[in-house]
Formats: sequence, C-alpha cells, structure tokens
Amino acid sequence: MQEQLSELVRQAESDISACQNPNDIMNVKAQYLGKKSLLNGLFARLRELPPEERPAFGNVINESRTKIEALLESKSSLIKEATWINREAVSATDLSMPGVYSSRGGFHPLTIVRREIDEVFLSMGFEIAEGPDIDDDFHNFDALNTPADHPSRNLADTFYLEGGGLLRTQTSTVQIRTMESFPPPIRIISPGRCYRNDKPDPSHSPVFHQVEALVVDKGISLADLTDTLSQFAAIMFGSNVSSRIRPHFFPFTEPSAEMDISCVACGGEGCRICKYSGWLEMGGAGMVDPNVFKMVGIDPEVYTGFAFGLGIERIAMLKYNIPDMRILFENDLRMLRQFKGELR
Ligand code: PHE
Repeated sequence: MQEQLSELVRQAESDISACQNPNDIMNVKAQYLGKKSLLNGLFARLRELPPEERPAFGNVINESRTKIEALLESKSSLIKEATWINREAVSATDLSMPGVYSSRGGFHPLTIVRREIDEVFLSMGFEIAEGPDIDDDFHNFDALNTPADHPSRNLADTFYLEGGGLLRTQTSTVQIRTMESFPPPIRIISPGRCYRNDKPDPSHSPVFHQVEALVVDKGISLADLTDTLSQFAAIMFGSNVSSRIRPHFFPFTEPSAEMDISCVACGGEGCRICKYSGWLEMGGAGMVDPNVFKMVGIDPEVYTGFAFGLGIERIAMLKYNIPDMRILFENDLRMLRQFKGELR
C-alpha cells in the first residue's frame, strides 16, 4: 500500500510538471484529489482496516495528499507568471496594433529668426544679455535720457502697472542694466519682448520683439556701427544686400540714426514691399549719449559706444514673406506647421 502511494505521488509529480495551462492543472487536480480519485478511494477503504492501523495509514494518505496539493500550487503559480510575461512580450511587439502617433513640434518663426540673429552676433564676438519684461521708469526712460514730458512716456503709448512698474517699451533697458553691472569693454546683444499700447495692424502689435545691441569701449565710432550693421545684413539676407543709416532722433543716442537695408525683394529697384523706395527700415541706432554714460557711471571722456535696436518681426516677415504682423501672433496651426521642418 505504501509503495502504491509513493508510485501515485511520483506519477502525479510527472503529470503536474507536464501541465501547460490552468486547464491542465484543473484536470490533474481532479484526477488526483477529486471525488473519484485513487486517494479518495483509499480514504474510503480506511474502514476496512483494523482500528489500530487506521491512524498511521491515514497519516500516510494525508501526507501524499499534501504533497500533491503543494506541487499543484507551485506549478499553477509558475504558469500564471509565465502567462503574464508572455502577454507583455506579445503586446510589446504586436505589429498589428494601431500605432501611437505623437506629433513632433516645431519652432515658431520668431524663435527661428531670433536664434539666427543670436548666431550671427555670437559669431561676431557679442554676448547675450537679458533683462526683465517688467521694468521701471528709471531703466526704460530716465536713465535713457528721456525727458519727463517725452511723448513715449504717455499712457497712450506705455503700459503702466499698478504699483509703479511698467512693461518695457524697448530692449534699450538692457543697455542700462548691463552698464550698471559691468565695466567696459562691453559687447552685448539683448533679444526680447517689448510692449506698446498700439492697436494691432499689419505692421504693429502691442507685443513685439527687438534685439538690442550695445558696444562700449575706447575709440568706438560711427564706422563701427555701420560696419556691424552691414555685416549683419549680409550674413542674414545675403552678401548682395547693402545697408545705410539716415539721421533721426532718440533721446539716448547722439547722433541718432535709422538703419535701412536695400530691399531684399527687389534688390533696390523699388517694389510694393519697399513701397518703391528700394530700402527697408530695420530699426533705430546711434552713438551712446554722454548723458546715458553719466547715469551709469561710465566716463564719457574715456569711453564711446554705439547701440541699435532691430525689430525681429520685421526680419521674420521679410525672410518668410509674411504680409501681416498679426499672423505671427495668431498661432494658426496652418501657419505654424509650415515651419515644422525648420528645426534650429
Ligand atoms: N529703442 C529704440 C526703439 O525702440 C531703438 C534704438 C535702440 C535706438 C538703440 C537707438 C539705439 O525705437
């Protein structure tokens, strides 16, 4: 009898190890532990034994039963585990599943152009300086030699904030902040957002971008300004593009000028884009006013400098043939998608 049981357990062991799925487990379990199983039959036959032999034999049957149960249990959890691993492997490589589409973004044309401008000036040895969008009267006007009654200070032009700050109307604020913090020689550009109380139209936006340039050293002259401008125009728009400056006025430069480049659309012949003048306005410029130097503690007898401010929208519009500045701020995906490939 003992031997018969051992044989039964051995048989069960091999049947269990051959199980491949939960169904096989169930069948083997029924076969060895179920009502009609051999083990169950042996329990029933306990009665046939003399009473004193029953406990020992009962124990032997129970041990076999426990052994088989344990084997079934461990095989069953092995199968479960394998099923999960298999399921994960299958789902990771199921090529018939629909793909997960994730669209790659692109840069806004203003960002593309700004980075291009950065690169041109970095290649000329300029550094990039930054200043806050929310600034104060001192940095936006006073230190820039702007008289108290200057029209640009008007509420109609400048956004003032409760509590005294303002949204900078020009990146020239960064000229002041740089000269306050660093001694000459200085050679920086500062790209950034500016704000003016303008109604949006094809060439105006209440939010727009400028790149300020400032060079301060001994012996800087107007020739350095015009040369820097012409180099910039040639690298940005092509070597056949020329530049010029025209007299103008800014409170913080003396002399002051406006900068033009020859029309990139018609080459200077005259067309709709340059309003038949052959020239395109790029921004303001000039030699740093001695009063500005005094405001930041730089000796105007020792140092001279030039500064200019370029409009980034203007450059982007010319480069990409964008007819209306408002298009740059509407973020219409049909427009933005056209710049997806132009990663920079
Ligand atoms: N800040 C001037 C403007 O916004 C441009 C400028 C910059 C002029 C630097 C002179 C020097 O119009």
